[in-house]
Amino acid sequence: MLLDLTPDELLSTTRAVRKRLDLTRPVEREVLEECLHLAQQAPTVGYSQNWHFVVVTDAEKRAALAELWRQVAYPYLERRGGREGQGARIGDAVVHLAEHLHEVPVHVIPCVEARVEDKPVALQASVYGSIVPAAWSFMLAARSRGLGTVWTTFHLIHEREAAEILGIPFEQVTQVALIPVAYTIGTDFKPGLRRPLETMVHWEGW
Ligand SMILES: Cc1cc2nc3c(=O)[nH]c(=O)nc-3n(C[C@H](O)[C@H](O)[C@H](O)COP(=O)(O)O)c2cc1C
Repeated sequence: MLLDLTPDELLSTTRAVRKRLDLTRPVEREVLEECLHLAQQAPTVGYSQNWHFVVVTDAEKRAALAELWRQVAYPYLERRGGREGQGARIGDAVVHLAEHLHEVPVHVIPCVEARVEDKPVALQASVYGSIVPAAWSFMLAARSRGLGTVWTTFHLIHEREAAEILGIPFEQVTQVALIPVAYTIGTDFKPGLRRPLETMVHWEGW
């Protein structure tokens, strides 16, 4: 079922959801496939369609991925220390997700068929640019179906181990994120706090 959201509401309320993921409600495969079908409408370099999505529902695999994620998340949180305001709120939410990631019913790992270590920046941009729009489309489609997601990259520090867990051919395929997916607890989300537009928009030049 689709939420009653205008396009602008969808674009402004697709938040990083960590604390409001419903860990008890299963996510139907058909709903995930609808989101993935929509993700496939995103562009890829040279129409290569060099993208892959690994969808993980197996409890043991999710537990193994969550363990890799925590190994990076906890030292990161320690380094960030006693922040205040929005920083502290995000830290709190990351702790919550670290404690519950294995319980999130679905982990989606967007991948791209290439490895770009040692490659020129233009090629790196083409490769990452071929998967990031699709993954974000997936997240928007998920939100419009009442699902929450959050883009995370912690586990990539242990990308090779994650590849082994999931049988991903590491030498040919790059993982770009681990997106936890679950129905949200309530569907009302607000636009996030952002810097004033003029601090980041440069008309006619920097
Ligand atoms: C490239 C990238 C990497 C991120 N990595 C992580 C991560 O590893 N763990 C995490 O909890 N959030 C991660 N995030 C989410 C951000 O920390 C940030 O909280 C989020 O984008 C802002 O949420 P909002 O849009 O709801 O304000 C990442 C986001 C991006 C774009």
